[in-house]
Amino acid sequence: MLAPRSTSAWTPGPILGIETSCDETAASVLATDGSVLSNVITSQHAVHQRFGGVVPELASRAHIESIEQVSSEALRQAGLGWPDLSGIAVTQGPGLVGALLVGVNYAKALAYALNIPIVGVSHLEGHIASAWLQDPSFPLPCVVLVVSGGHTHLYLKDPLGHCRLLGATKDDAAGEAFDKGAQMLGLEYPGGPAIDCLARQGNRQAIAFPKSQLKKGSLDFSFSGVKTSLLYTVQAMPEQLRISQSADLAAGYQEAIVTILVEKAFAAVQACNAPALAVVGGVSANSRLRQLLQQRADSAHIHLSLPPLSYCTDNAAMIAAAGRQALRAGVRASFDLDAQASMAAPFAQAM
Ligand code: KG4
Ligand code: ZN
Repeated sequence: MLAPRSTSAWTPGPILGIETSCDETAASVLATDGSVLSNVITSQHAVHQRFGGVVPELASRAHIESIEQVSSEALRQAGLGWPDLSGIAVTQGPGLVGALLVGVNYAKALAYALNIPIVGVSHLEGHIASAWLQDPSFPLPCVVLVVSGGHTHLYLKDPLGHCRLLGATKDDAAGEAFDKGAQMLGLEYPGGPAIDCLARQGNRQAIAFPKSQLKKGSLDFSFSGVKTSLLYTVQAMPEQLRISQSADLAAGYQEAIVTILVEKAFAAVQACNAPALAVVGGVSANSRLRQLLQQRADSAHIHLSLPPLSYCTDNAAMIAAAGRQALRAGVRASFDLDAQASMAAPFAQAM
């Protein structure tokens, strides 16, 4: 097995994070103390928009075209040169395998050329790490709700940084429900931001959608009922009516999804007697979700971490942050590091 030349002691210094798991090519540099020096993201939305979703082969090609430029720009904005880097963190999975391979191979080539250690990071662990990017002293234990295009997972993160799964979606992820709902309403990809935007002009009480709680006390989620309900509602409407009521439909549909998320997140906080809640992942950018979470956290006196929007959707600062924890804990990848399309989160490392 070919290993990086400097595998043993790691001299802490700036870290480059690289993220290419889906349709964003991102690179970020963290300073030695973990603060974010740069966070560069190139979105491929324009490439995929006319297909209504991400086309894996086009995603890989777009990553290849932009990864060098995005990484150089992250260094430039950080005011550093390649020799200043002390380590590289790259998303290893889960994600689109062709897209992941671009980041992993680029990162391995860089680590080899610069003779610095490299670690592969779970995308999920990256999202979780984003909750501590702005405030590294945000308290533990903490309930963490990860809501993205592929995940709706509730964890309890203990004071040692270990995560325990409390609940997860039984069917669609919340982001998927947003994206599929947007398609039914004839909105553009990506659907979550489109529904968020349209819902601001609508009446969230005009059209009610079911809020599935599953069985009493369960911390699992289900979004298939609300999605099917939107489908039937839209199919039963003449096109003109659907168009004229699209803002109310978006507002009601969004309200059902975010209510489920808020209810379950605070049920978990209560069940674990946790003083803090962090909500991360692309859907945490949703304006109505943020509003409800903040109101509820204020009235229950719960510490709430809602990362700024640039850390909610896919970014490389979160990957660098998770990688920094791993490097500090002595984790090193070999040059056999490979992309893993369905990688499970190895939640064993301490913060
Ligand atoms: O974390 P992320 O960027 O990528 C994944 O790891 O999946 O999350 C993407 C998901 C998409 O489903 C997108 O529609 C959703 O996050 N999203 C939103 C908003 N912004 C992004 N959903 C609702 N409201 C938003 N403002
Ligand atoms: Zn993500």
